[in-house]
Amino acid sequence: MEAPQTLAKRAAAARAIDELSPGRRVALGTGSTAAEVLRAIAGRFGRPAPFDCVASSRATEELARSLGIPVRPLKPDDRFDLMLDGADEVTASLDLTKGGGGALFREKFLARLSRRVVILVDESKLVRHLGESHAIPVEVVPFARPVLAHRWAEDGWKVTARPGPDGRPFVTDNGNEILDLRPPQGLEEPAEVDRALGRIEGVVETGLFCGIADRVVIGHPDGTTDELRRPDR
Ligand code: A5P
Repeated sequence: MEAPQTLAKRAAAARAIDELSPGRRVALGTGSTAAEVLRAIAGRFGRPAPFDCVASSRATEELARSLGIPVRPLKPDDRFDLMLDGADEVTASLDLTKGGGGALFREKFLARLSRRVVILVDESKLVRHLGESHAIPVEVVPFARPVLAHRWAEDGWKVTARPGPDGRPFVTDNGNEILDLRPPQGLEEPAEVDRALGRIEGVVETGLFCGIADRVVIGHPDGTTDELRRPDR
């Protein structure tokens, strides 16, 4: 028996891949919902899947290849028709927290190269303000980590250096580390926080994705879905 959350993610994946047609250039996200997308693509389009794909993590790359979805490295002039990805938090204005799986830099990088970004979530990810239910991951250069952690703790964030499976610091696919920042309360102006954090030397990327998603598909355990769309897109 599948967990209700898995059924919800699967429902969202099945609906989101309706946007795909053969020959599309697709950026693939990371995490358990993105994995449902890969399984849905493999189930609907067969092997090899007829898409030109780049993955946002080694984990996604491996899973995609095992399912017969071709994945290649990034090319200098790459642009994607569509990015499909999960999120840790989603607001009504389609701002997101991402990076629970540690792939935030590549996810944001690929999202910015994509004409459309479709995010899939189960209903537990909906929040009023980012930072309410999930910490904000920030990918940092390892050398700078102690100084940044100290500074942000002094600024009032609850700071946790993300541990890897062996208890040592988690290392991203880019060789960096992650500090998870918990704000004292949900963020009223996440785009401003993103810009301010991004200006700090030693910060590679933040998990605040503001103004990036075009559509959010919300799955429910009974197999139904809802969606949020950015009004101007
Ligand atoms: C990966 O780095 C993340 O951005 C994921 O997209 C996010 O954490 C959602 O993960 P799940 O789909 O596993 O909930």
